[in-house]
Formats: sequence, structure tokens, C-alpha cells
Amino acid sequence: MARNKAAKKSERGWFITFEGGEGSGKSTQIRHLKKTLEKKGFDVLITREPGGSAGGEAVRHVLLTGAAEPFGSEMEAILFSAARSDHVETIIKPALEAGTVVLCDRFLDSTRVYQGVTGDVDMEFLKKLEEIACEDCWPDLTLVLDIDPSEGLKRAKERRAEGEAADRFEREPIKLQRRRRKAFLDIAKQEPERCVVIDASGTEKSVRTAINSAVKKHMRSASPGHMNLRHDSQAVAKAGAS
Ligand code: TYD
Repeated sequence: MARNKAAKKSERGWFITFEGGEGSGKSTQIRHLKKTLEKKGFDVLITREPGGSAGGEAVRHVLLTGAAEPFGSEMEAILFSAARSDHVETIIKPALEAGTVVLCDRFLDSTRVYQGVTGDVDMEFLKKLEEIACEDCWPDLTLVLDIDPSEGLKRAKERRAEGEAADRFEREPIKLQRRRRKAFLDIAKQEPERCVVIDASGTEKSVRTAINSAVKKHMRSASPGHMNLRHDSQAVAKAGAS
């Protein structure tokens, strides 16, 4: 991948993850951010979890149809992490090493929230899975798109093509979605160096503006890869404490 002027300034590319509940508008906003960064001269790659790589996409199908659900949240956590490991190894790491900005739709916080907080999987166990899957690819910046779950589910429903079924996680009760919202906000509070909460209830344009300014501010104050050095191995344990 050709390195451009902006990418050359830093040896490693930025790793930015998007997190949040169902229908919070992550995919739309990722596309907007890609355009903004490209205008500034960065090479940008959009990817997603579960999926993003050949191995990851194979596991995605098993997870989202609910085929793995009967085997429990721990099994699902292992599968999400297996998909992540392949994704990091084959897609994310090579892109970051080439100086590309990687924008990833969901990453490790989704496992902490969905499998950890609402799936009751032990946080110490998740921490070990994270360390295996992420290697030295900890997100530099995580944008938590925050929206009331009833509004988010409404948006997700509108977005689905006619006849398309909700996935295994979208079908879950609103009470669970509310606990997830709180869990994402708790992570953001515990890791302010990495996470920025974005109010996703506004217009597409207002959310885009908020994201652009958060990214700009972060890029000015940190350098890519900074979370690898500062990765707080206690953070995942703390996420489970609330
Ligand atoms: P998807 O349709 O890709 O995305 P979204 O809801 O972000 O529009 O669905 C992915 C689902 O998988 C979503 O409900 C969250 C869930 N998930 C986990 O439970 N654990 C994980 O580690 C990840 C990455 C996703």
C-alpha cells in the first residue's frame, strides 16, 4: 500500500475503534471519518468485527446466526477472540505497520460488554483472550457512540432491508441493551486516555462534527501506538467491577 505524505509523518498508523449499541450509526460515521482523513492525506482502511479477515468472516456467520448461542457466552467469547486474532494478524497489524489509519467497527470493548458484562464471562479470562488476540495492536482511540437503546433499536430496524431478520444480539431484550449502554460508558470513564464518548442521538452531521473534533484533538495530543505502552492490564478487570 502506497504511503502518502501524512502517513509518512508517523511510522505506525493510527488504530481507531468505534463502539456502541445497536443502531448507534457506527458504520455511517466510519465512512464519514474515512473521507475526512483521506482529505488530510492519510491512507485509511475500514474494517469490522466480527469479521474483517477471511477467518473472521467465517466465524462471524456462526456468531450472528446464533449457532454458537446454545454453547454459552464463554464459547462465544472464545470465538469472537479467535476471529479477532486472525483479523489482527492478517489485516490490522500489516496495515498499521504500513502507516495506514485503521478504522474498526467494534473491537475488544464489545467483547467486554456483550460477553463480559451482560454474558457474565469472567473478566480475567477475557483479559487473557485480549492479550492473545490483540498482541501489540491496542486501539489508540475508541469512539463510543452513545444512544438510548430504544432509539438505537428503532434505527437498526429501519436500516434493515425488508424481510431481513435481526441478528442474535439485536433480538435481545431492551433491559440488556441498557446494561450494555452503561457498560460502554463505564469503560470510557475508566479509560479516558483512550475513549471518547460521542452523543449519537443528534443529526448525522452533528455526530460527524463531534467525531472529527475528537479525532483531531487526539491526534494532536498523542502518538500512534501510545496505548501499547500504556495498556492498563487492570482496565478489563475494572470494567467488570461496575
Ligand atoms: P453487526 O451487524 O456487525 O454490527 P452492529 O450491531 O455493530 O451494527 O453485529 C455485530 C454483533 O456482534 C453486535 O450485536 C455486537 C456483537 N459482538 C459481540 O457480542 N462481541 C464482540 O466481541 C463483537 C465484536 C461483536
